[in-house]
Amino acid sequence: MRVPFVDLKAQYLSLKDEIDAAILEVVNNTAFIAGGFAAKFEADFAAYIGVKHCIAVANGTDALEIALASLDIGAGDEVLVPANTFFATSEAVNNVGATPVFVDCEPNFFNIDTAKIEAAITPKTKAVIPVHLYGLPAEMDAVMALAGKHGLRVVEDCAQSHGADYKRRRTGTFGDVATYSFYPGKNLGAYGDAGAIVTNSPELADRCRLIANHGQPAKYQHTVIGRNSRMDGIQAAVLSVKLKHLDDWLDARRTNAALYNQLLSETGVPLPLAPEYSRHTYHLYVVRVKDREAVAAKLNEAGIDTGLHYPTALPFLEAYADRGAKPTDFPVAHEQMSEILSLPMYAELTREQIEHVAITLKAVVSQASAAAE
Ligand SMILES: Cc1ncc(COP(=O)(O)O)c(C=O)c1O
Repeated sequence: MRVPFVDLKAQYLSLKDEIDAAILEVVNNTAFIAGGFAAKFEADFAAYIGVKHCIAVANGTDALEIALASLDIGAGDEVLVPANTFFATSEAVNNVGATPVFVDCEPNFFNIDTAKIEAAITPKTKAVIPVHLYGLPAEMDAVMALAGKHGLRVVEDCAQSHGADYKRRRTGTFGDVATYSFYPGKNLGAYGDAGAIVTNSPELADRCRLIANHGQPAKYQHTVIGRNSRMDGIQAAVLSVKLKHLDDWLDARRTNAALYNQLLSETGVPLPLAPEYSRHTYHLYVVRVKDREAVAAKLNEAGIDTGLHYPTALPFLEAYADRGAKPTDFPVAHEQMSEILSLPMYAELTREQIEHVAITLKAVVSQASAAAE
């Protein structure tokens, strides 16, 4: 049996008529950029998240850069970033001219370790970017308390957490501003690149919109240096169709994760558990295994694709080699990066596919522990 890591075709086929009609409507209206489709998606998504403003942009990396710029973060400023996240989180900080300062991960849930935030704050620290990694909300009570205490701005990176809740409140509603990616493989994915910024602040919303549209409040009146970052009509139309199905897909992911949890419960493999007050959305289902490459190869032989998110924690990437980070500086992220393994996870996974993954993983892990004895 084949178990791909994600199956975007299965999702497309389940919505084919709706999606095809939405794309055709954009083309028939030649509403490629400035039509009403992006505005409609902005209203739909703001309502879904429960915020006043949404600005549709070209991708999640731009969303982060524009959000940081809207807060006037730039040269000379430091921004706290978790040690394990996708590179875009810290890259965006660099791209606005500021410096990312890494904070180690928490050992059980992979997110930023809020107990280590205070030690990383300096007089230059302007903001913190909690990432709700893999779809599990970061510890927002602690993040917001520290931000309040130290006067830091908070930019939530929700690229992996569409619809996830922390203490019955949606991620994306805690910080000054929050950013989303709709990269095709995300829980809410477009048919190309797309992203969004959400906020309750009318001032920040206006500023983000200005920056994303060449710094022009009205055509050809450029009041600040901005950039071009627009969501195109096709992406917006596809996303408006897909948004209606998001909650069902998140439920299906939770059901699939619960089945994995049940089938793998006696293997001794650390599973991606969540605190009871968080609603995980399982963008990724990440387990930890010793001898990870061998385990991945055995799963692969059995037709199962796996992923690594991420094989190298940010402080140890070549792009940051000049900082000379040592494993002991980020011991948790350093240990996790050699053990984490992402199993196939998407709404359309079948019970048989999940059983095949779980049975195979169980066998591989028990063979390895028998061999070690
Ligand atoms: C945590 C995180 N931040 C930012 C991004 C950047 O989003 P995009 O690929 O849409 O630029 C991604 C996704 O790729 C991500 O996973």
